[in-house]
Amino acid sequence: PKDPLVVFLPSGKRGRFAPGTPVLTAARQLGVDLDSVCGGRGICSRCQITPAFGDFPKHGIHVGTEALSGWNAVEDRYKSKRGLIDGRRLGCQAQITGDVVIDVPPESQVHRQIVRKAASDRVMKMDPVTRLYVVEVEEPDMHEPTGDFERLARALQAQWGVAGLTASLPVLSRLQPVLRKGGWQVSVAVHDDGHGAPVLLDLWPGLHDGGLYGVAVDLGSTTIAAHLCDLVSGAVLASGGIMNPQIRFGEDLMSRVSYGMMNPGGDREMTAVVRAALNDLLADLAGQAGIEARLIFEMVLVCNPVMHHLALGIDPLELGQAPFALATSDALRLSTRDLGLTNTGASARLYVLPCIAGHVGADAAAVALAEAPDRSDDLVLVVDVGTNAEILLGNRDRVLACSSPTGPAFEGAQISAGQRAAPGAIERVEIDPITKVPRFRVIGSDLWSDDPAFAEATAASGITGICGSGIIEAVAEMRMAGLLDASGLIGSAEAAGSGRLIPDGRTHSYVLHDARATGGPLISVTQGDIRAIQLAKSALYAGARLLMDEMGVDQVERVVLAGAFGAHISPKHAMVLGMIPDCPLDKVQSAGNAAGTGARMALHSRAARDEIEATVRKITKVETAIAPKFQEHFVNANALPHATDPFPELRR
Ligand code: FES
Repeated sequence: PKDPLVVFLPSGKRGRFAPGTPVLTAARQLGVDLDSVCGGRGICSRCQITPAFGDFPKHGIHVGTEALSGWNAVEDRYKSKRGLIDGRRLGCQAQITGDVVIDVPPESQVHRQIVRKAASDRVMKMDPVTRLYVVEVEEPDMHEPTGDFERLARALQAQWGVAGLTASLPVLSRLQPVLRKGGWQVSVAVHDDGHGAPVLLDLWPGLHDGGLYGVAVDLGSTTIAAHLCDLVSGAVLASGGIMNPQIRFGEDLMSRVSYGMMNPGGDREMTAVVRAALNDLLADLAGQAGIEARLIFEMVLVCNPVMHHLALGIDPLELGQAPFALATSDALRLSTRDLGLTNTGASARLYVLPCIAGHVGADAAAVALAEAPDRSDDLVLVVDVGTNAEILLGNRDRVLACSSPTGPAFEGAQISAGQRAAPGAIERVEIDPITKVPRFRVIGSDLWSDDPAFAEATAASGITGICGSGIIEAVAEMRMAGLLDASGLIGSAEAAGSGRLIPDGRTHSYVLHDARATGGPLISVTQGDIRAIQLAKSALYAGARLLMDEMGVDQVERVVLAGAFGAHISPKHAMVLGMIPDCPLDKVQSAGNAAGTGARMALHSRAARDEIEATVRKITKVETAIAPKFQEHFVNANALPHATDPFPELRR
């Protein structure tokens, strides 16, 4: 008689195995993705599987209840101590005794899916950089004088195939007591990104079930956003954002570079404050997630070149002047301690994405990783809107990149009533073209301000200001309602007498919300706000046009709006303002925080790290700072929507 046939789902991999073969062994031999941390000792439960019973005509088999062996003592003990979901078995204990179909649930796969992107359907798989293994280490022997670490490394190679383990001194110093406490059975967290030797990050006696964590950081000029993630499941456990404390040295990048030039030691000062902020953020996230900060073993950093240099402790001086030379542009593999970050494991690793060029940083690389313009069939324009806009244009054949100094207006800074996107901030605006009366929505509520229940719904947060997406909508709506002329001047004749325009020095302001009578704020859009938005949008548009010139095209086929607030910008309003080139509105997509997504992909995947390092080498950088054409595009783009470029899609 033939050996039993085993079919694994969802992979469909199949093979025949001698009766008595453990399911985990069969999975290994067929290359089925079935996790194991304890190596089949029945303690980690990562190998859980669900046998399916009944008829499987597709596979030509019938699975009876005797397809797997009964519960042995190890599996029984596990179930009674820790519990198992009904129908689940431990793959390392259950043995194949008949034809069987075995389902591997997502939680039992090492390479489970993680990041699903908003703008395209590309799916990313976990390909963990740091993994946990349980190893049985040989006890020392006087006749065989090897060190405990060397025996541990040998055991890891023999039991898990991980060769050439190295360790830092802080871990080595803790090794001996842990080995003895665990009775020579220990859990080890090993970082192995395929570049250099695997590194022992930490170890615990017996089975460590306290988890392994990582943090992906998007270090922007204005805000620092970070996610704390489970390195096994990929789940985001906590997210946080804080203002970049370097703002007190200058709002935008160039003013920070000049602060460093004008003040001896200024660069070191900026390095110190940003590192302190990162360290606080790490502690904060750990607290939020309810985990110990020393279990953070991986950190990924994406940022623009100036932030990159300042975080690393490199004077960004050279980035302030042509030819804008980076001190280093390749990806960096460091320890978090190299940056003085103490709120992580002592040996935690830090991966910094590569920079594309002097003005196009690791944040743009992260966007390229998340949005993959290099895999797009159609010509896609990706803009990551922040204090600096990162702009990518391309398709399978060629990808161009530039960055453009939009300033912080799109993030709500430099706007009179501007604020960060947080509960209470106005994020949506509509203005009645006849009465000029606005209605709006604030973050934290789905109701519009003219809804009778609005006041109650927003009582907790209040109405505190206007965020980036709110100001974009407000300005676009003002233009559509005739409150602004094409030059951006508030208060054209047709708007007079609406009662919503109030004198403001020699100009006017448009009142969105006036709660002064009850001690609340006056939230209005001033002429200065309009000018700040005009400057920001002109810079963004000019950068996009410059790339289109370089590519030799007048139209793009698709636009992806990324950035912390890219998800909230309405495409129509962006186009009314002339922020982005003309494109069918249904081809304008939002990708949310693509740089943050890219950072998370790099956090969870060795393959993603290799991919972005290869992609960055193929991206052509276009320098905006020295292109005369950029100035010309910038000036023409000051008008709303534009002085010369047509926007045929807007008329539809
Ligand atoms: Fe660890 Fe099965 S492999 S319990």
